[in-house]
Amino acid sequence: MKKKLGALLMMVVVLMVLAACGGGEADESSGSADDGEVYTLQAGHSLPDDHPYHLGFLEMAEKVEERTDGRVKIEVFPFSEIGAERELTEGLTLGTVDLAVSSTAPVTNFVPELAVLDVPFIFNDRDSAVDVLNGEIGDELFQAMDDQGIIGLSWGENGYRHVTNALHPVEKPEDLSGLKIRVQENEIHLAAFEELGAQPTPMAWTEALTALQQGVVDAQENPAIVADQYKLYESNQEYMTLTGHVYSVAVYMMSKQTYEELPEDLRDIVLEEGQKIGAMERDMIVEMEQESLKTLEEQGVEIIDEVDPAPFQEIVSSVYDMVEHQELLNNILEAQK
Ligand code: PAF
Repeated sequence: MKKKLGALLMMVVVLMVLAACGGGEADESSGSADDGEVYTLQAGHSLPDDHPYHLGFLEMAEKVEERTDGRVKIEVFPFSEIGAERELTEGLTLGTVDLAVSSTAPVTNFVPELAVLDVPFIFNDRDSAVDVLNGEIGDELFQAMDDQGIIGLSWGENGYRHVTNALHPVEKPEDLSGLKIRVQENEIHLAAFEELGAQPTPMAWTEALTALQQGVVDAQENPAIVADQYKLYESNQEYMTLTGHVYSVAVYMMSKQTYEELPEDLRDIVLEEGQKIGAMERDMIVEMEQESLKTLEEQGVEIIDEVDPAPFQEIVSSVYDMVEHQELLNNILEAQK
């Protein structure tokens, strides 16, 4: 967090008051009065500046600046400029990153409880996922994040993950056999693609593009909006199969350290505005998804949309046993009955 001194006049006034009181250290986190400081928070994510991740943060920045009379500014960094998702998450735990939005898969490396969200086909549909996240289970997951120094502001959405590849149409699990596929840095994703007979390699999104372009991997899996915005058809991705194997949850997060360093009146405003953006971001994703599929098709990507998910589901069901937090997993399944 960067802080700038306010007007020179304010400095003089502060010095005069301090002198009158016989000195003393300013306590940044306790006061609610305007101390003249401007707090600049840095928010990072991995997607372009027209992706809903970014638009959500811009909305938050505008509201926060307005409600704090310019005392809190939020600078938003797209394209992994201040770190890829795993690095951003680590930065939140250390207090070197103030705010981030990330798909949940890499966050799991710091908050193991979140692994339940990235289990393939765990959610019946989008609405069920949203109900689970906005209910007691979502709160429990936010508590687990809090224990690691991360405040969960709100749940958003990355979108349904679909497989794209450079070689052939994938219509059934056997078509994935031997396919070199980039997966996220997440043990469950890795195991699921191994079960499906592919050759998965976990890597950050920043490395994935080069790997696709150079043919180090033939395939990747991501929502249509990501494939569209990153023009994956220019990285040899000619086929997209609407597997929808993971409903990829996104989460807006704040470093607990940053929160604690802000004066009380300001931190509440940041929290409140952060709590609003997830739902807004999700609505934008839903609106953009079909448009992205259309663009991909227009750009020559063959969309395989008549896929029977059942055989994929059956094969990956074995990874359910890998999940450490079985009770949480069962609660998610139970909540959707
Ligand atoms: O595949 C990923 O790493 C993520 O889905 C992405 C593209 C960074 C968006 O969260």
